[in-house]
Amino acid sequence: MPAQEDFLVEQFMDKYEEDVVYNVGETCCYSLSLNELEELSGEKFEFDYDKRFTYGSIRGTKQLRSLIAEIHSNDEVHLTEKNVLITNGAIGANFLIHYAVAGPGDHVICVAPTYQQLNSVPQMFGAEVELLQLKATDDYLPNFLELKSMLKDNTKLIVLNNPNNPLGSVIPTELLAQIVALADEAGIRVLNDEVYSPLFYSCEQPKSLCQLSTTGITTGSMSKAYAAAGLRLGWIVTQDLDFLETASSRRDYNTISVSMVDDAIASYILRNRQAVLDRNSTLCRENLAILKEFVENSDGKFTFLNEPKGGSVCLLRLNGIKDTEKFAATLATQFKVLAAPGECFGIPGTIRIGVGNSKAEMVAALPLIGEAYDQFFK
Ligand SMILES: Cc1ncc(COP(=O)(O)O)c(C=O)c1O
Repeated sequence: MPAQEDFLVEQFMDKYEEDVVYNVGETCCYSLSLNELEELSGEKFEFDYDKRFTYGSIRGTKQLRSLIAEIHSNDEVHLTEKNVLITNGAIGANFLIHYAVAGPGDHVICVAPTYQQLNSVPQMFGAEVELLQLKATDDYLPNFLELKSMLKDNTKLIVLNNPNNPLGSVIPTELLAQIVALADEAGIRVLNDEVYSPLFYSCEQPKSLCQLSTTGITTGSMSKAYAAAGLRLGWIVTQDLDFLETASSRRDYNTISVSMVDDAIASYILRNRQAVLDRNSTLCRENLAILKEFVENSDGKFTFLNEPKGGSVCLLRLNGIKDTEKFAATLATQFKVLAAPGECFGIPGTIRIGVGNSKAEMVAALPLIGEAYDQFFK
């Protein structure tokens, strides 16, 4: 098995996260507590205190899987709990899919930039991974003709991420459908990491990949839009029940089941999802407006690499500063502000800002980022 690459963004965040005061690097919407959830939803969280802590439902409770199936169904595609497998976060879901699909002799195409796991893991499993660079000239969306030209006889998997981390770009349904048609014709699977869905601002919500193709795979989790990363609970959704069986039998070796307490809290949140999503979408919109104002008043020091249409992150260009890894380290240690350097995504000269963090931290952090820029730029 080839050597594992360092997971740059996770290592950077882990190094500084505990010692900063203002975290605008986090990608999750500001995490909720049970007290806040009860207030938001008007429903008390009940847990059966007589319930024994067995392994619980191995694939996730029927109640939780049904809620996730409901979220991913539409007028044309009706999904049930049978189409859903619960995992340890979206990171567990993505890992499992690569584990089930990609190996030596296989070719995998993955958009870039994206969450590094999506391209490093298939490489770790011995597959040849080619990156489909998202470019400004394509509005940071996959270029269909370029993708088509990259297909090989041994291409097994196309990996997308919608909305994109770190760009906040959103692939519309029409382009997704074109990619799916191309992949279906060639017998290639498509994985779409939809962990930032449904956070959309200036565009329509695109269809979920599992709605667009009978073999397409969607991954998602409680971490970002549902503000509950601490549950470590994610999912795979697909119409392809045979694939789900394969993934499930692979999962027997590294998961068994997720915590029954987390499963119950996830069900409680998803039952009340509208209140949670309203809170988080308002938070992201307000923070984004604050960030835009900061950029507009910065005399050209800061610009958006791409103004986000969805998700909870974006890249801010620090004009005139090349070494943003050093900048972000100074920002964390001296100014106590956490933002991930663009180097983690192969885009130096930028920092990644999360717009789902607390508004108070956003308001306090931005002037400090300005001060750090002035100090650095001298
Ligand atoms: C695109 C993407 N996928 C997956 C994950 C992992 O999410 P989870 O907390 O659900 O494991 C992240 C986390 O930042 C992400 O950005």
